[in-house]
Amino acid sequence: MKRVAILISGSGSNMVALAESMVGDHPARPVLVVSNVPGAGGLERAAALGIPTAVVDHKPFGQNRVAFEAALQQELERAQPDILCLAGFMRVLTEGFVTAWQGRMLNIHPSLLPKYRGLNTHARAIEAGDEQAGCSVHEVTAELDGGPLLGQARVPILPGDTARTLAERVLPMEHRLYPEVLRRYAAGDRTPVMLS
Ligand code: GAR
Repeated sequence: MKRVAILISGSGSNMVALAESMVGDHPARPVLVVSNVPGAGGLERAAALGIPTAVVDHKPFGQNRVAFEAALQQELERAQPDILCLAGFMRVLTEGFVTAWQGRMLNIHPSLLPKYRGLNTHARAIEAGDEQAGCSVHEVTAELDGGPLLGQARVPILPGDTARTLAERVLPMEHRLYPEVLRRYAAGDRTPVMLS
């Protein structure tokens, strides 16, 4: 059984989707949810699911990402995860941390990568006149939102869509895609999952 730690910064809806999927014959179980934001909504949701939680606030570390990540690493080592899932975790990780977890760390990103790495993905897709938007799950490498693709889900961009309405349509797809990718990944299957 693989042990999964989930890193969040916000409401944690992807974390809940992942956690709720890890039951029965699933090859993994959630062992820890860590937030870099004290009071993030996802912490209560994780506790309600019976998952141990931890907070590693990045603020006291200022610009010192390496020191923040050392504190994060310490929390993670206590839980001994095999796989790390970034689920709305809004801190950029340094090359050192990423290298330490390479091949064991996944991320979900709200765009059809390689398009729109970084922030404000839905607004950028609408502004570009794209016909489709979506989300991607990828392995995390030192290149921001640039690691090997493990799955993608597409939705149409509709006339009158705003970043908000589009996000509301993409998020349920994230909740389908990420668990499906994790199930396969935990079983050693890296074949990309394509949903639409
Ligand atoms: C999700 O849409 C996720 O794809 C995005 O943040 C949201 C978190 O929602 N992640 C990123 O933008 C990462 N750069 P959640 O906290 O409800 O899962």
